[in-house]
Amino acid sequence: MRWAVPLTSSVTLLLQGCAGVQSALDPSGDEAERIGTLTWLLIAFSMVVFIAVLLAAGVAIFGRERWRARLAGEKLVVGGGLVFPIAALTVLLGYGFYLMSLGSPSAEQGGLRIEVVGEQWWWRVTYVEGTGRRIESANEIRLPVGRPVEIELTSADVIHSFWVPRLAGKLDMIPGHKNTLTLHPTKPGLSRGQCAEYCGGPHALMSFYVIAMPEDEFATWLEREAADAAPPARNLAMGQALFLSAGCGACHAVRGTRARGTIGPDLTHVGGRLSLAAAALENDVSAFVRWIRDGQHVKPENRMPPYEIFTDQELRQLASYLDQLR
Ligand code: CUA
Repeated sequence: MRWAVPLTSSVTLLLQGCAGVQSALDPSGDEAERIGTLTWLLIAFSMVVFIAVLLAAGVAIFGRERWRARLAGEKLVVGGGLVFPIAALTVLLGYGFYLMSLGSPSAEQGGLRIEVVGEQWWWRVTYVEGTGRRIESANEIRLPVGRPVEIELTSADVIHSFWVPRLAGKLDMIPGHKNTLTLHPTKPGLSRGQCAEYCGGPHALMSFYVIAMPEDEFATWLEREAADAAPPARNLAMGQALFLSAGCGACHAVRGTRARGTIGPDLTHVGGRLSLAAAALENDVSAFVRWIRDGQHVKPENRMPPYEIFTDQELRQLASYLDQLR
């Protein structure tokens, strides 16, 4: 049949929207699972109502005289038009409130906490351990599976909104105010988050990845993240020298070197992240080259000025140095 192919492909395309790293319909966290349940319930219920209305409309247009008279009867108009919607919507609303009131299990008192600050147009991420040790990172969040972790959200400039659809609902990041969200991943895997409040030019390019990992892997990772950057191998020393002499350290920190800037993202382990520039680029040597030279094309208006002072060879050396910071 002529319409079979377009029909199947559009249904497939539509269903693909249900999967993937940024889909609320493919939850992998406690709160998102409840939001998912509510979503499917509402979709199923509205489908039933939609079909009933279509059938009634069909009867009203094509039905026999007797059926049409019944459809226009007062009983059906009051029952179907007033009583049913009020009752159904009240029950659904009540169930929605109930689901949302369940809340996530609360994070352990004095346990790990993660501060996330929205900045134009990236995410400053700080892991704060119970002991008070602070571990700086950026543009990526790692979480242990099965343990609720408190995420403290705020902003350094304008209002942003923190949203990882696979894990939880969205919550605004407001300057001068702290909002707390508990993330509780139920299975390991990758999720993508997106700033969900328009915050200026490249708002759409303010994204990040969340990696939920088994508890022991997470502990190992966090120790590595806490460590200073290892001194570069001999063939990359030139890249490090360029990084330090070109003034990159005025805005960026690479712990273990004299680069201590705090204006931009901490780069101590930047090569170990899945993306660059808040998920605007995949992370590899050529992406570093592009970002340093053409960052304004990759993400227009971003705060990092384009660096056109380097030769191609120098750019390559600098990029290779940054890439091995893992
Ligand atoms: Cu930050 Cu939109």
